[in-house]
Amino acid sequence: MEKANIAVLVSGGGTNLQALIDAEARGEIASGSIRLVVSNVKGAYALERAAKAGIPSLTLTKKACGGQAGFEEALDKALREKEIDLVVLAGFLSILSGDFSARWEKRIINIHPSLIPSFCGKGYYGLKVHEEALRYGVKVTGATVHYVNEIPDGGQIILQKAVDILPEDTAETLQRRVMEQAEWILLPKAAELVSARILKEKAGNKA
Ligand code: GAR
Repeated sequence: MEKANIAVLVSGGGTNLQALIDAEARGEIASGSIRLVVSNVKGAYALERAAKAGIPSLTLTKKACGGQAGFEEALDKALREKEIDLVVLAGFLSILSGDFSARWEKRIINIHPSLIPSFCGKGYYGLKVHEEALRYGVKVTGATVHYVNEIPDGGQIILQKAVDILPEDTAETLQRRVMEQAEWILLPKAAELVSARILKEKAGNKA
């Protein structure tokens, strides 16, 4: 069966990448296949996860590419060379330009560790999101998978899942629970949903 070619963009530990790799191995991403991992951080542990799974990977830093425009040009080239259909931002902690997201409209999805529109947008990433949720005192948080457009964390929502905040939570315990109960479940599900949509569109174009 034809599959959508998936690239996963990472910056750190890559537990969401691992969730995608494991879900594909279990047959839960039947419409897509991970063909490339791109890190914008040298030596990110996610790269080791890719290597262990036999997935080709690449490191592209803004510094080595001479800034944001050069980075996006190199990224676009790498994605096109591998005939990538879907880009999954899985803990990719850099903001892509409006130009880039327009070029890949409805082809980039992102996982964010809160219930958008709470605790999102520029400056809200990683542990910071959970620190802010605790500081505000909300009793429920969660994760969101959304399409990427020119507004940081502002694209159409695909899936969301709520997670309770417990009185004894620290940012670290909350981050872990949001990952276990929401992110690692939602992201593979969304990757499958969007891959299936892309395949359907491609088939429609051929008809
Ligand atoms: C995840 O919690 C992800 O949702 C978050 O960074 C973490 C990366 O962990 N992403 C953002 O905050 C994006 N704004 P991982 O490298 O183990 O997947």
